[in-house]
Amino acid sequence: MPVPTIIIFGASGDLTSRKLIPALFRLDSTGLLKEECQVVGMARTEHTSEEFRQLVEPKVKEAILASGQSWFAGTWSRFARRLHYVAGDAALPQGVRVLGDWLKNREADPGGDRLYYFAVAPELYTEIAARLGEAGHNREERGFRRVVVEKPFGRDLASAHEVNRQLNEHFSEKQIYRIDHYLGKDTVQNILVFRFGNSMFEPLWNRRYIDHIQITVAEKVTVGKRAGYYDTSGVLRDMFQSHLLQVLSLVAMEPPSQFSADRLRNEKVKVLDSILIPSPGEALASMATGQYTGYHDEKGVPQDSRTPTFAAVRLQVDNWRWKGVPFYLRSGKGMTNRYSEVTIQFREPPFRLFPQRLGHEPEANRITIVLQPDEGIKLSFQTKVPAIEGTELQARDLFFDYKGTYGSLPEAYERLLLDAMQGDASLFMRGDEIERSWEIIDPFVKSLAEANAPKPESYSIGSDGPPSANELLAKEGRVWQKLG
Ligand SMILES: NC(=O)c1ccc[n+]([C@@H]2O[C@H](COP(=O)([O-])OP(=O)(O)OC[C@H]3O[C@@H](n4cnc5c(N)ncnc54)[C@H](OP(=O)(O)O)[C@@H]3O)[C@@H](O)[C@H]2O)c1
Repeated sequence: MPVPTIIIFGASGDLTSRKLIPALFRLDSTGLLKEECQVVGMARTEHTSEEFRQLVEPKVKEAILASGQSWFAGTWSRFARRLHYVAGDAALPQGVRVLGDWLKNREADPGGDRLYYFAVAPELYTEIAARLGEAGHNREERGFRRVVVEKPFGRDLASAHEVNRQLNEHFSEKQIYRIDHYLGKDTVQNILVFRFGNSMFEPLWNRRYIDHIQITVAEKVTVGKRAGYYDTSGVLRDMFQSHLLQVLSLVAMEPPSQFSADRLRNEKVKVLDSILIPSPGEALASMATGQYTGYHDEKGVPQDSRTPTFAAVRLQVDNWRWKGVPFYLRSGKGMTNRYSEVTIQFREPPFRLFPQRLGHEPEANRITIVLQPDEGIKLSFQTKVPAIEGTELQARDLFFDYKGTYGSLPEAYERLLLDAMQGDASLFMRGDEIERSWEIIDPFVKSLAEANAPKPESYSIGSDGPPSANELLAKEGRVWQKLG
């Protein structure tokens, strides 16, 4: 078991108190953090370690209770003893010097393994990495030195390339762990197990049997307090470049020769490489965008903002397996439900053997992988409705309920933090993966910025998005699956 020191830049921020410390607390409670492992938070505001513990405790408690677990004050007190705070500006040499002094005097395993977590604004990633590098915090003499970088990673191909270049000046690719927390979800990892841990699905997983694939990541929440930031980003940058393309690559990739970080990521990059990059005109024709009503009233959003809060995009994976099978991706805020799923829509049987009841279109087979919240897998197939006379067909589901079978699922950040400590980068994005994802999404973002681009269509909060999203599929004779 690793005994690293975990250094969190951005200690007093939202991510740290809502996700990172709760995840470390849970790892500690389940015995996965060694007794000697220490967590050092750093931010510019002056606090003592004791004040820092008191500051984060209520937020950690809230996160633990919200996930349906019990709160034990004694367990927290024991964990809190390993939480420390160092005040300083990590983007300045002086700040990193103060941190260095703390580590020299207080680290349980002096000079041992260290994980540096960048839970700060994205503009600071390269600054902090540079200060760490200049102070020698990148040198792996006695223990590892790894940096964990949060999303967003750049805002287009050029900026992501520049962030990679600057990080690589001080840290090698093997030392960089780029987070997309979606990959930490068990249900997302289960896509690979479902495909490659079974022999019955993979022979059908191709253009011969599959008509199209849908990937939906719907959020019920609106932009809320993040409106100012969100308006400079929009749904394509916020969700498509990362979560949706990550899920797509797991659904579409070839099996790697070994379950190792680089072999797995090589296969994901190959899928991304096969996606056709559209011209601006093609991008507009294969996309529908929306903005929920009331978006302009959110604090920090300009009245004339054309930032989409919803998008549906059609992508083509142009390779041997998928040629001609459209991948429809959609995501939005202010939708009916918080709901993420992958739908594998199979083709209809080659001919209709059974008479169809008037007005009842036959439903072809479908596999639905529900990523959240009712995690599970549904297999829809035709059955004969019991009757003495005739043969009437009706589609029915076989359902695997993840939580019902296994109980609660671990939080994504637990898995990812543990993997980063153990040096398993399988569930983190490599630099080339990120850059290729931007290359795919950039034309969609840029085409919307053109003067002649249509404005995002309004949709009501609590709906399934704008009608143009339905038209995108309807013109190809298809429909979206209803949001769960
Ligand atoms: N919140 C989420 O759920 C979430 C989800 C996914 C990704 N992320 C990403 O995670 C990062 C952090 O997000 P957040 O929501 O936690 O932000 P936040 O609430 O604004 O917190 C930022 C933190 O950074 C500290 N900070 C600012 N400048 C610093 C510096 N020079 N040196 C050291 N600390 C500094 C701030 O404290 P001081 O002002 O005291 O320095 C504060 O603790 C962002 O990149 C965000 O995009 C967040």
